[in-house]
Amino acid sequence: MKVSVLGSTGKMGGLVIKSALREGFEISNKISSKDKISDLFLDTDVIVDFSCPVATESMLQYVNKEKVSIPIVIGTTGLSEQCIDLMHRCSQFVQIFYSPNMSFLISIINMIAYATSKLLDESYDVEIHEVHHKYKKDSPSGTALMLGKTIAQAREREFNEVARFTRYGVIPLRQEGEIGFSVQRCGNTVGKHEISYVGEYETLKIKHTAHSKEIFAKGTVKAIRWLIQQKPGFYTMNDFTRNLVVPMVKSLYKDFFSRV
Ligand SMILES: NC(=O)c1ccc[n+]([C@@H]2O[C@H](COP(=O)([O-])OP(=O)(O)OC[C@H]3O[C@@H](n4cnc5c(N)ncnc54)[C@H](OP(=O)(O)O)[C@@H]3O)[C@@H](O)[C@H]2O)c1
Repeated sequence: MKVSVLGSTGKMGGLVIKSALREGFEISNKISSKDKISDLFLDTDVIVDFSCPVATESMLQYVNKEKVSIPIVIGTTGLSEQCIDLMHRCSQFVQIFYSPNMSFLISIINMIAYATSKLLDESYDVEIHEVHHKYKKDSPSGTALMLGKTIAQAREREFNEVARFTRYGVIPLRQEGEIGFSVQRCGNTVGKHEISYVGEYETLKIKHTAHSKEIFAKGTVKAIRWLIQQKPGFYTMNDFTRNLVVPMVKSLYKDFFSRV
């Protein structure tokens, strides 16, 4: 299979290329800021994007204009709502897989966050804390935003109304249902995400630490294999893991509650 990489000179692009070659894929095109976006689509079976929002948007504009039908895996974060809308438009005629985090464990945490937010009412204050290396350009991370949106959805709240991104100086009292975000950018931390549910008498924390960016590259290669078998549409990690996780969760709960 031939893979074209947008962001090929970047840290993630480099790891995706290595991972793809290890899996026996060929690299058809390596595209960075010095190249033409149209070259990404030459003689290739699939496209992978780990670049920056401007590049992702121009790629999608090209896809939409030319009605390109080559499946695309997008890992770039910090994308605007307009860019996500554009992805949805393109997904009417091509397979688009988008995940701000390609780690399988993050998809598990996302599911746990949904279940926990259904189980605990809004008397539990939710805070999301994330730590990344000092070169990361977007904040909060795409993963932190994804987790926040999952929690808001589980609580049947409008994310934009409950998300609190800044606290500085004299601030209003915490609102019921507020989801607070805090961010650290330091050293070479690959990525840490922690969700806290803080009640009056107890606190629950759910935490994920990525030790190496390799995990995102491995997840990307798995996503490629899966995506090329799908019909045109918009897909996320939830779609990718559904068939694996749903039967597992069903039997897990059955086992758990039937223990004597
Ligand atoms: N989904 C996930 O699991 C996951 C995991 C890690 C990172 N990410 C995200 O992936 C993205 C890339 O991260 P990174 O650490 O690899 O960044 P990076 O090292 O800064 O690499 C960025 C890449 O994008 C290219 N680029 C920049 N502007 C461009 C333009 N206008 N047109 C075409 N290419 C352009 C750069 O090319 P030049 O060298 O020519 O500038 C470079 O190849 C970020 O959004 C990051 O948050 C996602």
